[in-house]
Amino acid sequence: MQILITLNNIQDLSLRCISENKVAVLLLAGGQGTRLGVSYPKGMYDVGLPSRKTLFQIQAERIRKLEQLAEKQHTRKCCIPWYIMTSGRTMDMTKEFFIRHKYFGLKEENVFFFQQGMLPAVDFNGKIILEGKGKLAMAPDGNGGLYRALGTPNIMKDMETRGISCIHVYCVDNILVKVADPAFIGFCTLKGADCGAKVVEKTNPTEAVGVVCKVDGRYQVVEYSEITLETAEKRSADGRLLFNAGNIANHFFTLTFLKEIVRIHEPQLQHHVAQKKIPYVNTKGQLIKPDKPNGIKMEKFVFDIFQFAKTFVVYEVLREDEFSPLKNADSQDGKDNPTTARQALMSLHHRWILNAGGHFVDENGMRIPAIPRHGPAGTVTPEVSQNLKDGTDLPIKCEISPLVSYGGEGLEHLVNGQAFQPTLVIDENGVHELVKNGL
Ligand code: UD1
Repeated sequence: MQILITLNNIQDLSLRCISENKVAVLLLAGGQGTRLGVSYPKGMYDVGLPSRKTLFQIQAERIRKLEQLAEKQHTRKCCIPWYIMTSGRTMDMTKEFFIRHKYFGLKEENVFFFQQGMLPAVDFNGKIILEGKGKLAMAPDGNGGLYRALGTPNIMKDMETRGISCIHVYCVDNILVKVADPAFIGFCTLKGADCGAKVVEKTNPTEAVGVVCKVDGRYQVVEYSEITLETAEKRSADGRLLFNAGNIANHFFTLTFLKEIVRIHEPQLQHHVAQKKIPYVNTKGQLIKPDKPNGIKMEKFVFDIFQFAKTFVVYEVLREDEFSPLKNADSQDGKDNPTTARQALMSLHHRWILNAGGHFVDENGMRIPAIPRHGPAGTVTPEVSQNLKDGTDLPIKCEISPLVSYGGEGLEHLVNGQAFQPTLVIDENGVHELVKNGL
């Protein structure tokens, strides 16, 4: 007899695991956010959504919602513990932020902070760099520093004591991240994987994403900083990039696999060397901020353990549903910045409203088309062009709280058959049209 496995079956399997307290999430938040140019941890960034929620708050609320969905389906209380890796640069501010915001409604005992290591930065001759008088320039040891940090017994012990069986590890900066995604976790579990990676199709050879591929018969990620342009530009017969499995830094690990990594393989992981601009003090004691790389930092990468997996799964998702990272400041680049992150979230939520049977009207009550009125290839209509000049965001302004919907579910009773004027906000207090209400 053939058994048909649907996405719903897979999600149900995960919700059962969640309801049995077997799933944990682990956030990599030790990076310095240099490209974004902020002096505080990236998770504290507010991209300018109507709610002004920060990345940390959005993620915390997705965890809460998923707990509620699992509890409802299996009628038992459960929790998804959240392990947050910080570094010497981000620990204090991250902790204070969570305390100030009362852990965004999560229980304090289910949120753990731990710290990765730091390594000294050196110049091109291998000499250490001073960032102040008598003070070494230190940098976090890369997100692969996770495995050394996990070697400190308390985190793994806590996971074991709670009976965790699998962990979703992810990066802080993707506003669309589906924290503890039941579809991803369920799929990896069903396939008997010890390790898995979520990918989106890479379409531009120079996009700053690593690619998941096999090298000498073993799975690994070739990072964007280490792939040659010639290889990145290779195409298959159908015209798509040959290496197109773009890593979105969402990984699945079983606890058994992680324990083996920490116990056996961590010391074998190689450091990657990156040339960086490292501020230093000169012989007169003045602080110099170089405008070109003057030294190197050594980092381990979180995905370098893929090579040790016995069963590895690659899970491809749609970019517009799941990947919009915040890397750059608005002023720097038209890519992966606060504006693109905000627009990606609102455009996803717009689609959720349409799928649930709602639609939008303009200030004259005219229905707003679901698809923006772009002209023939590469051109825009006068209205769109005016919007661009005005700096008006192109997507319809709407935001749905993760406390209302995790992935577009549960909206029909709120929006079906109804017309809304943007800005629309749906949160745990109801449906709000901010313009109509004069807000
Ligand atoms: C990362 C991935 C890249 C992927 C891209 C997708 C790695 C090594 N590279 O690249 O393959 O395509 O995201 O957006 O994962 N972090 C730490 N400690 C550190 C350094 C970083 O915890 O020492 C954390 C950051 O806080 C962040 C994550 O790791 O959450 C990724 O760091 P980032 O430097 O932004 O990675 P990318 O170079 O963008």
